[in-house]
Amino acid sequence: MKNIDRRQWLKTAGLSSSFTFLGGLSTMAMDISISTTPSLNTVAKLNSNENPYGPSKAVRKRITSAFDTACRYPSMVFKPLLEQIAEKEGVSTKHIVVTGGSTEGLKAVGLTYGMDGGEIIAADPTFQSMMTYAENFGAYVHRVPVDSKMGHDLEEMERRINSKTNLIFICNPNNPTGTLLDKKKLKDFCISASTKTMVFSDEAYYDFITEPDYPSMVELVKENMNVIVSKTFSKVYGMAGLRIGYLVARPDIAKRLQKNIMAFTNVLAIEAAKEALVDDEFYKFSIAKNVEAKNAIYNTLNDLGLEYIESHTNFVFFKTGRLIDEMMREMEKENVLIGRPFPPFYEWARISTGTMEDMKLFDKGLRKVMRS
Ligand SMILES: Cc1ncc(COP(=O)(O)O)c(C=O)c1O
Repeated sequence: MKNIDRRQWLKTAGLSSSFTFLGGLSTMAMDISISTTPSLNTVAKLNSNENPYGPSKAVRKRITSAFDTACRYPSMVFKPLLEQIAEKEGVSTKHIVVTGGSTEGLKAVGLTYGMDGGEIIAADPTFQSMMTYAENFGAYVHRVPVDSKMGHDLEEMERRINSKTNLIFICNPNNPTGTLLDKKKLKDFCISASTKTMVFSDEAYYDFITEPDYPSMVELVKENMNVIVSKTFSKVYGMAGLRIGYLVARPDIAKRLQKNIMAFTNVLAIEAAKEALVDDEFYKFSIAKNVEAKNAIYNTLNDLGLEYIESHTNFVFFKTGRLIDEMMREMEKENVLIGRPFPPFYEWARISTGTMEDMKLFDKGLRKVMRS
């Protein structure tokens, strides 16, 4: 267990605009201790877009006290969480499908709409869970290359809609590129495309968006459109290992998807999620620390003159000019784990934000590897 020296943290963070945006002092006045998995203390694990600060202290406490209920099935403790999520999203509980991580939701949707030759349209590269799973069940996936700025090519995606198209997958912000769609373009696209097919908005990184009033596509769910949204507790809440997320969709759609869920989640994750949703302090802390770490990554990349895409997430996609397999191996020798190949961008790497210690290891490691 490592305690961050708050004064040191404040000094490092400075009074940047991100803190002003977060309401400044209340965030800074926190005393939050963090821990990392002991075996990871000397390795910067920056390859899976996790949040090293989570779960929050309050969530850990809640999980511990929830052990007594672990002999029961999750239905015992589930309803209050459903109500909390519904309230947060401004919809009814019938709109919510809770899943084992949002991945289970993505797969259930892939199965439902992709089975037996159903066609799915997605950007390339993007987060592939839904598509690769759907392909196992006979789906045909149209992979539409990202545009010159590494964002979704919405015009081409809409043009690809045909009579067999069952779903369009939008990952916004996108993984691995970190790009964010223009909010008006996104909304217009979803409204138009959802009259022809189902639109899926993966909002795993929504909380990291700093643009004010950026809409969640839950807005369109509320207007009864053919839109499904996924959210997760894995990122900003730092609960990737607990496996809990959810879908938001019109009740008739949610009911259909609910039937295709396989694993669901568990009582500890449910209690953790209930607590996470009211732990505003940690939520703000996570976002502030992410901004701080992302700026550190930008500084390193700027210093080394490496090209990168401005990120709206907790990771940065950057061009090394070296083959990614080799980069991963070289960086691992420096105790830094970085993101994997994302075809066709074999000379790019994805790095997740970590603690400031992680960022220092990354800085040192990357300088050494790029010099060699
Ligand atoms: C865009 C996107 N969606 C969904 C997920 C799945 O996350 P989880 O299953 O932990 O909710 C990830 C994980 O990295 C992701 O990047």
